[in-house]
Amino acid sequence: MRAILLDRPEVVAGAGPTLAAAGVADRVQVVGGDFFAAVPAGGDAYALGAVLYDWDDDQCVTILDNCRRAMGEGGRLLIAEIVIPPGDGPTTGRCWTSTSWWSSAAAPARRTSTGGCWRRRGCA
Ligand SMILES: C[S@@+](CC[C@H](N)C(=O)[O-])C[C@H]1O[C@@H](n2cnc3c(N)ncnc32)[C@H](O)[C@@H]1O
Repeated sequence: MRAILLDRPEVVAGAGPTLAAAGVADRVQVVGGDFFAAVPAGGDAYALGAVLYDWDDDQCVTILDNCRRAMGEGGRLLIAEIVIPPGDGPTTGRCWTSTSWWSSAAAPARRTSTGGCWRRRGCA
């Protein structure tokens, strides 16, 4: 399997040592870019991990449109997001999103929510 890692140029600039340590550097092409503009074309599968929760609906549609445009016939889109269960109990997801929230200067539209909310919206 081969992969393309897309992230902001300033982020992927530091990816080399991590990919090498994981033993996958020869199978991963690193691309600096902007998923609001375009994503690399021709992949069999596109994976968005902890990406969509950061953006509002219109921005998510742009990202998803760009994935759809880039993939070939039969392409697949894999989305991995944290779902926080209902209630106020401690969970890894609640902890993660709380710390992420406070550490981010650009969090205009966080959408990580309770499992109940996502279920109501038919997303889980
Ligand atoms: C919460 S992190 C998730 C990173 C990775 N997918 C993971 O699961 O560890 C969201 C990522 O989106 C990247 N990102 C933000 N805006 C971007 C853009 N316009 N184009 C490409 N990547 C972007 C950030 O640099 C960050 O690495």
